[in-house]
Amino acid sequence: MTTDSYTFPAGFLFGAATSGYQVEGGLPTDWTDWEAAGKLKHQGVTCGPAVDHWSRFDEDVGLLQDLGAQAFRLSVEWARLEPESGHFDETAALAYRSRLERLVARGIRPVVTLHHFTHPRWFHSTCPWHEPSCLPRWEAHVRRCVELARGLDVVWCTFNEPMVFLLGGYLDGQMPPGKKHGGEAGRALENMARAHVIAWRCIKEVNPRALVGIAQHLMVFAPDRKWHPLDQALSRLADSQFNWAFLDALFTGQLRLSMPGVVQARADIHHGATMDYVGVNYYTRTHLRFTAEKPFLRMAFKDVSKRGLTDIGWEDFPQGFGLMLRQLKRFHLPVWVMENGIDDRTGNRRAAYLHAHLKELLAAIADGVDIRAYLHWSLLDNFEWLEGWGPRFGLYGVNRETMERFATSAVAYFKELTRTRRLPQSALLAPK
Ligand code: BGC
Repeated sequence: MTTDSYTFPAGFLFGAATSGYQVEGGLPTDWTDWEAAGKLKHQGVTCGPAVDHWSRFDEDVGLLQDLGAQAFRLSVEWARLEPESGHFDETAALAYRSRLERLVARGIRPVVTLHHFTHPRWFHSTCPWHEPSCLPRWEAHVRRCVELARGLDVVWCTFNEPMVFLLGGYLDGQMPPGKKHGGEAGRALENMARAHVIAWRCIKEVNPRALVGIAQHLMVFAPDRKWHPLDQALSRLADSQFNWAFLDALFTGQLRLSMPGVVQARADIHHGATMDYVGVNYYTRTHLRFTAEKPFLRMAFKDVSKRGLTDIGWEDFPQGFGLMLRQLKRFHLPVWVMENGIDDRTGNRRAAYLHAHLKELLAAIADGVDIRAYLHWSLLDNFEWLEGWGPRFGLYGVNRETMERFATSAVAYFKELTRTRRLPQSALLAPK
């Protein structure tokens, strides 16, 4: 690398990402009921007040400003806007509007997610994703969101990780609505693709120049036994279906998902592209092995590079970030990194993780990938869906007894990054 390739391009945005349910607190959603029904891995764990971001919003925006962040990703919670079916909470809409305005006033561009795994309590029994009735209800919700942001320069993310939701909600049953049904899964994915197109139209009607996209989870899949044809085939299938099928649908207008014996979806959703940017969430690589018993595959995170697995047990694989980013060139669209981060419970590894991933990002830019933003997951420690309160993904840690925020050692690194707009020196990486 030349010295110059350590510098971020002009206009590149640094920021952090969150989702409503994971940080806001006090939200009655389908996840609240899921927790109460004892469906989480650890019994008795609840999201509850989360990290009280709803009432500490200004304090948290202050942290973003200290970091030198220029963008902040948050999600609007449907359950707050329409807690009971057909009853809209205008006060909640005004509160969201005021939050977006407060961000803009401080020079921070809001990136707003419309769907980040959660739903109002009534959703799955009234108009679930696998029924066409979800679409008019979704459209009404999106129109309210677009209205509350009218006149503000917001980047829209319609769905966070649709394939993760499909897997958890409709195939392995680990997330609400907790289904294990290939037929319904296929219909749900088709409706979500249509819902994206609906949202894209609603947003463009109000602001034709608005950026609209999704946040797609991209994971590197590798054969557990390099030489084994079935492990190789599984990895190729997972890559094409989990990583690319949904993005391709929004790019070409044709949804073609095919995981034999698991789920199929085939639909023409639009004539052409409905994405203005490609949003990427990247964390890790997984190794796949074919097994004789159902579900015929085993997933494992292996510490190949001996950097040590992260605290949640995932491989720390920065090169995979570069690999995935380079593959996005084929869309010929700007790329926004919507999430990237580490569960680091001591706070000692985050700066090194960031450094290694940003190095890959810069190398991808040098190779011609048009990357516009990097949003770190996450600003704060937060409720981690299946795991509860163990993981710590925050640049700022949170003491959940007092709700006090405290800087992890990666904060100094991040500040240096935004101040100089260059990859910081390795001196800032030293673990404590
Ligand atoms: C999700 C976040 C989650 C993070 C870490 C992403 O898949 O969008 O909500 O907390 O990964 O697991």
